[in-house]
Amino acid sequence: MRSDTDIALDLDLTLPGPKQTDALGVALAGVLRPGDTLLLSGQIGAGKSHLARAIIQSLQQRRDLPREDVPSPTYTLVQVYDLGDVEVWHADLYRLNGAEDVFELGLDSAFETEICLVEWPDRLGQDAPAAALTVSLDLSPETVGRRVSIRATDPRWIALERQLTQLGNPS
Ligand SMILES: Nc1ncnc2c1ncn2[C@@H]1O[C@H](COP(=O)(O)OP(=O)(O)OP(=O)(O)O)[C@@H](O)[C@H]1O
Ligand SMILES: [Mg+2]
Repeated sequence: MRSDTDIALDLDLTLPGPKQTDALGVALAGVLRPGDTLLLSGQIGAGKSHLARAIIQSLQQRRDLPREDVPSPTYTLVQVYDLGDVEVWHADLYRLNGAEDVFELGLDSAFETEICLVEWPDRLGQDAPAAALTVSLDLSPETVGRRVSIRATDPRWIALERQLTQLGNPS
């Protein structure tokens, strides 16, 4: 539902179980290009790493690359996957200390040229790319599975609405 003229994409979906999170990951992997950033929001255990894993493994599969394990980058902060034509930077910024760490990690330049999947993106503050797609996972006691809201202001993401609606459960 569009609520504002500045919003290019604003979609809410229900993901009843991990398989539906995987399906969302496959759909997102189908549209990701170099220079794209996904901001993966949501509380501890919401499924951010699960979704990132599904995206990365689907990107590998699409290139006939071996499917790698995708551990949570909780302690390394960043885990980089080389896909040949582009890298995927999977970051978990929960333990980030300050804004300067974003530069130390090299994330600022990765945002320009690679595919970046960022957990705990609130830690980026003003350094979050304006054109990023925000994917917020919500784990609430009254919800079976997860609710996910997918939002962007950049027109780059408009076409995603049709593709994601085909996943089912739009609301
Ligand atoms: N749609 C879903 N319904 C129910 N469980 C799900 C769904 N999607 C993912 N999960 C499960 O949620 C659990 C927690 O996922 P995950 O580790 O990805 O959380 P996280 O958001 O990355 O947490 P953290 O903030 O600690 O990094 C996993 O066991 C995963 O299988
Ligand atoms: Mg995680």
